Amino acid sequence: MEEGVRTGTKELEIVRRAYAKQVMAAADIDDPRVEAAFAAVRREDFLGPGPWPILRWRGYAPSPSDDPVYLYTDEVIGILPKRHLNNGQPSLHAILLAGTAPQPGEHVVHVGAGVGYYTAILAELVGPSGAVTAIEFDQGLAARAATNFLMFTNVRVVHGDGAATQFDPADVVYINAGATHPAASWLDGLKEGGRLILPLTTNEGFGQPVSSRNIQRHGAVYLIQRRGSEFLARRISAVAIFPCEGARDAESERALAAAFEKGGGERVTRLYRRDDLPEEQCWLRAPGWCLAYC
Ligand SMILES: C[S@@+](CC[C@H](N)C(=O)[O-])C[C@H]1O[C@@H](n2cnc3c(N)ncnc32)[C@H](O)[C@@H]1O
Repeated sequence: MEEGVRTGTKELEIVRRAYAKQVMAAADIDDPRVEAAFAAVRREDFLGPGPWPILRWRGYAPSPSDDPVYLYTDEVIGILPKRHLNNGQPSLHAILLAGTAPQPGEHVVHVGAGVGYYTAILAELVGPSGAVTAIEFDQGLAARAATNFLMFTNVRVVHGDGAATQFDPADVVYINAGATHPAASWLDGLKEGGRLILPLTTNEGFGQPVSSRNIQRHGAVYLIQRRGSEFLARRISAVAIFPCEGARDAESERALAAAFEKGGGERVTRLYRRDDLPEEQCWLRAPGWCLAYC
């Protein structure tokens, strides 16, 4: 391991500001609030002591030392590498955060919080007058997250299944694990104008080296917005992500795999909570729901 002096606190602040700019550039977005939140939150406070396993094309490689400077790149860091359970890529989250635009005072529900790095960024965006409910399925990670947020007044960590846990009405529901369908509580729990980040993934590809081509065929993130009784839907990214417990079923997975095979998911404009729309109107149709072109 590399020996030497660790980067000092003041230098890390500068490094974080540069990192935040690089993340915005990689995400191809211009969002000063999201950039400022990335610059403010210390990734090392959530991931625990280094060296950290960094995901590269050939697999995980340890950071050269425990200097937190190595956390300020646009890379995926292993949390539980044996399970391929990772702290997600900053530029992907920049896209999801800009898409949902959490505002000061709002309530965000974060499903799949892990150890809380992106929960902390959400907490920064909603500010002290807002609230984040962070739900994590894995007991050990939920305990680590709870410890990480002991000093926060606007974050509550819940250990449980985020597809089944009831929560107070939310402005943003931010799902960080791959579902095959939207859980009823995620849609029911959205306030008028509320935004849902919905990563949809098939059973293929997860945990294997993925080229950008097969990511496109196996996972996509949809931004869902509640407008009265309607749910507007827009594809905002490809994704490869850890599966969501409690939000996967075989029929929706088959429909999803067929939809990716067919292509055209970028033309989706609506999510419906029914499955009786004409076939030609649907990109994906599964029992009880569909993603449609109009
Ligand atoms: C890809 S990891 C992301 C962790 C975190 N968002 C990050 O980027 O550091 C997905 C997380 O979702 C959790 N998870 C899976 N299904 C869940 C569920 N039904 N409810 C809550 N958490 C869930 C996993 O245990 C895991 O920690």
